[in-house]
Amino acid sequence: MSKKVLITGATGDTGRAAVREALALGLEVRAMVRRHDDRSAALSALGAEVVLGDLQEVNTLRDAMQGVESAYFVYPVAPGLLSATVNFAQAAKETGLKTIINLSQRSADRESSSNSCRDTYISEEVFNWSGVPVVHLRPTYFLEWLLYPWQLPYLQQGILRMPVGKGRHSPIAADDQGRAIAALLKNADGYVGKIVPLSGPVEMDHEQMAAELTEALGRPIVFQDLPVQEYAESIAAMGVPEYIVQHLSGAMVDYQHGHMAGADNNVEQITGRRSMTVGEFARLHADQINGN
Ligand SMILES: NC(=O)c1ccc[n+]([C@@H]2O[C@H](COP(=O)([O-])OP(=O)(O)OC[C@H]3O[C@@H](n4cnc5c(N)ncnc54)[C@H](OP(=O)(O)O)[C@@H]3O)[C@@H](O)[C@H]2O)c1
Repeated sequence: MSKKVLITGATGDTGRAAVREALALGLEVRAMVRRHDDRSAALSALGAEVVLGDLQEVNTLRDAMQGVESAYFVYPVAPGLLSATVNFAQAAKETGLKTIINLSQRSADRESSSNSCRDTYISEEVFNWSGVPVVHLRPTYFLEWLLYPWQLPYLQQGILRMPVGKGRHSPIAADDQGRAIAALLKNADGYVGKIVPLSGPVEMDHEQMAAELTEALGRPIVFQDLPVQEYAESIAAMGVPEYIVQHLSGAMVDYQHGHMAGADNNVEQITGRRSMTVGEFARLHADQINGN
């Protein structure tokens, strides 16, 4: 009999990818969503069992975890991460869950001025003291940043706009994280109790990233640096939620100080295939990035 796993955030970027990849690995997938809609119907069509649940409602988590061996935990950049973590750990203990795969972030840090970075650090600690076996994934910035509504309109005009100075990183696609999450849901031997960084294959600054985008898209993309405060005010004016603006105001300063630096090959170690490059991601999403 195949192993049954629970994937939360199944309508989000990493959760959706994890559902697809876990099914491809032959796992029996229960996908937790907040409501039935086109996105949940798409998960059913792939072969997942769709259940309703809310990370702020512990009883829905207990029900969603019945009969499940491993579960993926993800919470958006929004208020409520710590209560969601506690609910998840409590339900995991009640139901005898064997492994939690926790999506943390590279910049989890109790000293950060970002509320999200501090909460993410505490969330890892809460899972640790719950005693439920856990793997903490710490991805760097997602390549999906290129598609976020506050970035995409600039990119469509040829501008890679980020308040990051000469800070370096190796961005990672949600699809590659989905492959790693699915593999760890299937078998986390050797990873339980560890913090696992996840990144793309090549570390770069944003001048280099703009050059790679230029090459991949066949049109000039220019990096535009700007003060963090100016960036924060501009995205707030575009309607980005206050919690995300607060997070980025702190995280971008951390970024400039090297918190996102480095590249690792953990996706390849876990899945047998490396994560995609900036150019590969850009070609895959060229229509959207070009505004076609
Ligand atoms: N973006 C980055 O560059 C980056 C870098 C490092 C780490 N991270 C981490 O990545 C995480 C976000 O991952 P993601 O991009 O895959 O997420 P996402 O696309 O923002 O999706 C969030 C998912 O959580 C669901 N959700 C929201 N509130 C919920 C609740 N109360 N109960 C149950 N489900 C709920 C959403 O459902 P609905 O769709 O119905 O709202 C959605 O499926 C964050 O923790 C962030 O710190 C992000």
